[in-house]
Formats: sequence, C-alpha cells, structure tokens
Amino acid sequence: MSLLARLFRVKPVARIQAEAAAGVGDQDAGGALAKELTAFDLTALGIAAVVGAGIFSTVGNAAYSGGPAVSLLFIFTAIACGFAALCYAEFASMIPVAGSAYTYAYASFGELLAWIIGWDLILEYAIGNIAVAISWSEYFSNLLAGWGIPIPAYLRMDFLTAKRGFDAVSDLLRQGNSLEQIGGLEGFAAQVVAYEAWRAAPRLGAIPLVCNLPALGIVALITLLVYVGIRESKRVSNAMVIFKVAVVLFVIVVGAFYIKPENWSPFAPNGLAGVLNGVAAVFFAYIGFDAISTTAEECRDAQRDLPRGIIYSLLICTALYVLVSLVLTGMVPYVKLQVADPMAFVFGKEGANLLIVERIVAVSAVVATTTVLLVFQIGQPRIWMAMSRDGLLPKVFASVHPRFKTPGFATIVAGLVVAIPSLFMNLTEVTDLTSIGTLFAFVLVCGGVLVLDQTAPSVERKFRVPYINAKYIVPAGVVAAALLVALYPPATALAREFLTIAPAEGESWLGAVSHKIPFAVFALGALTLAALCFLKSLSLIPVLGLLLCGYLMTELGVVNWLRFLAWLAVGLIMYVSYGFRHSRLAAEASASSGKS
Ligand code: ALA
Repeated sequence: MSLLARLFRVKPVARIQAEAAAGVGDQDAGGALAKELTAFDLTALGIAAVVGAGIFSTVGNAAYSGGPAVSLLFIFTAIACGFAALCYAEFASMIPVAGSAYTYAYASFGELLAWIIGWDLILEYAIGNIAVAISWSEYFSNLLAGWGIPIPAYLRMDFLTAKRGFDAVSDLLRQGNSLEQIGGLEGFAAQVVAYEAWRAAPRLGAIPLVCNLPALGIVALITLLVYVGIRESKRVSNAMVIFKVAVVLFVIVVGAFYIKPENWSPFAPNGLAGVLNGVAAVFFAYIGFDAISTTAEECRDAQRDLPRGIIYSLLICTALYVLVSLVLTGMVPYVKLQVADPMAFVFGKEGANLLIVERIVAVSAVVATTTVLLVFQIGQPRIWMAMSRDGLLPKVFASVHPRFKTPGFATIVAGLVVAIPSLFMNLTEVTDLTSIGTLFAFVLVCGGVLVLDQTAPSVERKFRVPYINAKYIVPAGVVAAALLVALYPPATALAREFLTIAPAEGESWLGAVSHKIPFAVFALGALTLAALCFLKSLSLIPVLGLLLCGYLMTELGVVNWLRFLAWLAVGLIMYVSYGFRHSRLAAEASASSGKS
C-alpha cells in the first residue's frame, strides 16, 4: 500500500459499529466501562463542562472591548457551535465509542487526521484543564480570603510568576521607589504580591518553594473521583450543576431589576472590531458540550441519548449566556467590566451593592470551574483509550479498572499531565490555544459529516443533520459577499486594506503579511467549498458549521496559530515515532496482503 493510501485509510463506520457491538478490546482490557448515563445525566454533564471560567471570568474582557454587543457575539458563536453540535450529534448517533472527534475523524478522513485530532484534543482537555485548574485556585483562594482564611501567596502561585514579580519589583526598588508606591502603579499590585510571595517562601537551599497547591489539590481530588467511577462522578457533577444553574438564573433574575437601559447605549461602542476581540473568550465559554461524546460507552443508550444531551446542553447554555451578557452590560457601564470576576463584581460595591449575592456568585464560580475540570478529566482518558485500542498509543492506556470500570491507567496519567504543570506553571494564556484546538476539532467533525454523506450514505444513524441543499445557497452567499465588497464602500475599504500588503507604521513586512494569512487561507477554503457545494449538492448545515468555525479560527491571531501549528508538528513527530508503527489497522492490512 502506498504511504498516502496508508495514512488516509479510514476505519469504516460499519466496522466500528460491529466492533462496538462485539465489545472488541473489552476482554483484553479488563472488561467494558459501566453503563450509567441517561439523557438527563448527559445534558447535565454538557452544562457541567460548558458553564465555567468563560462566563464567570473571561467574559469580562470580552464585554469591555465589545460593549453590550457582546451578547450578539454570544448568539453568533452559539450558531456556529450549534451547527457543529448537530454534526457531533449525528456522529454520536452512529458511532457509539469513546473516542469522540478522534474516532469520527478515523471513520471519515483516515488515520493521520485521526491522530492529529486526538493529539489536538489534548489542547481542549488536558491543556485547557491546566488553565481551568489555575483559575479554580484563584477563585478558591479569594473565597477563603473573603472568609478570613488566607492561603499564603507562595502556596497559591506558580514559580515563574513569583520570580517575574520579584525581578520586576526589585528593579523598581533599586530605582528608589517604595513598595507602597510600586503597588500603586497600574498593573503592579499583583507584582507586589508575587514579590512578597517569593521573599516569604520557605527555601530548599537557595530555591524558594513557590507552588500552586490548591490547583494540585483539586486536580488530585477530581482524578480520584473520576478514577473510582462514572456513577460517582455523575452524581457529584449533577448536584453541582443544579447549584450553578440555579445561581446563574438567580443572577439573571435579580440582576434584571438593576438594569439601567442607558448602559446599553451605545450598543457596540468599539464597532465590529471591538466585538470580534472577544471571539476567543466567548468561544471558550461554549467549549465542552462536545466532551460528553467521550462517554459514549457509558451511556445506557448512546445513539439515542447523546444527540439529545449535546443539543439540549448547548441550547440551555446559549440562553443563559445571552441573558447573562445582557444583564451584566445593563447593570454597569461596560468599561467597568474588565475584571476577573464580572458576575460577582456587578453585585459588589460598584454595582448593585448586594454583597450577599456577590458572595453566592463567588462560591458558584468555584463550583462551576470544578465541574468543568471534572468533565474534561473524564474526557481525556477516554480519547486516549480509543487511540490505544487502535494501536496509536500503548496498550496500557486502554486498560479498564476491574472493579471501578473506568480507564484507570489513562485517568491517572491525565491527572498527572494536568496536575504537575498547574502546580508550577502559569498557563492561563493557553485558553486561546484551547479555543483554536477545539475549533479545529469542530471543523473536522463538520467536514466528516460531509464526507460520510458521500462515502457511507446508507449507514444507520439514529439522528441525521437535517438536509438542506447547499448547491445554490452557499455559492449565492459567496457572490453576495463579492457584490458587497464591490458596491458597499465600507466593505470595499476593508477589502482594500486587506489586500494592501505594505506594512503599517512601525510594523514589519512579516507582521503585516502574517496577520492576513489565516484569513486568506479561509477565503480560499470557502471558495473551494462553494464550488463543491455546487458540484455535489452538499448539506448546508455542516457546510455552515465548517465555514463559521473556520472563520472563528481566523480571528484568533497569528501568535495562536503559530503555537497551534507548533503543537501539531510535535504531534506529527509523536505519530511517526509510535502510532505509525503500531497502528492496528495498518498491521491488519499488511497481514491480509501477506496472505493473499
Ligand atoms: N466552557 C468552559 C469554561 O468556560 C471551558 O470554563
């Protein structure tokens, strides 16, 4: 078999279904996973994964740059996610195994892209969870401090942050400033805390022992819970979800009484560009509904209930988010929302001055981030498990704990992969990387539905993305966009600016061009897709999902793209060094060609 054919050889859906029905892999691995989850549990798990740091924290920056119009961004992003969710739902109703987008990609695009997506999903789950664990630690420490139980700063901070703060403040001290003066400088309050943490930390020889203990603690606890059982995990998650949804509803209802409509005007103070600045944060807030597809083997009826769980959880979260964003921007002027805890802030002294609500929100931020951690710690090992069964990871990743019926080894590894970096590193900026990685998975899942429509149209699915013929609609959209650019002066000006390659003042040539590359690639892809729609009468919803998610990816900035490409390059090296040689599909193919 040629190398290309080998890399793009798919694992047919019919075969995946047959293997799932026969429990292939279960016997070697120590049995099947426990089937515990109902449609209600899945919806709750979806909400558990979605409502977290995004709406409790990062939305503050998005509202600051976009103003009240950020609520429209929540709607737009929900539409993009909605199309992807329908595609996930179709796959989940067809492929009842744990690998989620990894397995879906194997069935539609072949092994190489499957590996890439499996590797990419580490960004969404494990790396994303490092950032979530760090924010959890911040919320938790603030909560305890509010109750008069402060955790020493050197135990709730990573080493590098403390060192950087120490160096920066020491420089200013040497220049003759007092600590008090430095603390008053804009952006320096946190540096002074870091400086003091560095100085107060106990030492091992000359090295100060600075680490983020709460982040480690929560990941360890969650790992233990996920290890001992899906039933235990879902019970804890369901209880927490009921609490956090109740608090968000409470915020919406109480907050509605404090809305001052004048705060909604101007609605988009910084124009479209200001609104689009919030894309990464808003998309991050939606990430998670897809994660429940990793529990396919633990559902009582995956093919019926997973599509419901995915769609219901996205609908519920969208309604909550749009209302929350309207309430927040209605309660205080949007310029005040650039804070780490906007939902609590609007009830504080500068907002409604309802301090009891502020405290309740602070507690629920901790609860909300806990459930996000929980679902992603459930998701990561199950993807590794599916990859291991296909031979792309060592066999031990597929082993199932004989008593707890969970992927025990993979769960522990996922715990370590998240806990250790969150103890020592500051990875909060990886949320954007998480967004780009997840969007990439969404793009492939939407593309996968289009591929299987052509290659496996008759395979049974309990849920199908409703078919609307894109033959004329998408090409017409492209023509309309071209007319808009040609005839509408602001659009013409934007296009001209885009096509001008000369750098702006102070910008390098490389800088000027590199920012435009993601969009240029997207535009080419959109044109190709429009042509394919015309030629093959593709289904509209997956096409729109692909286009919208692809477009959101272009908004994430060149730095994130470079980091993302570097991550994928490392993945490729890993594939060549292990997966390529151990692939079960490839081994079977060469055995059968040897026989014939
Ligand atoms: N959507 C999840 C959150 O906002 C990742 O925390």
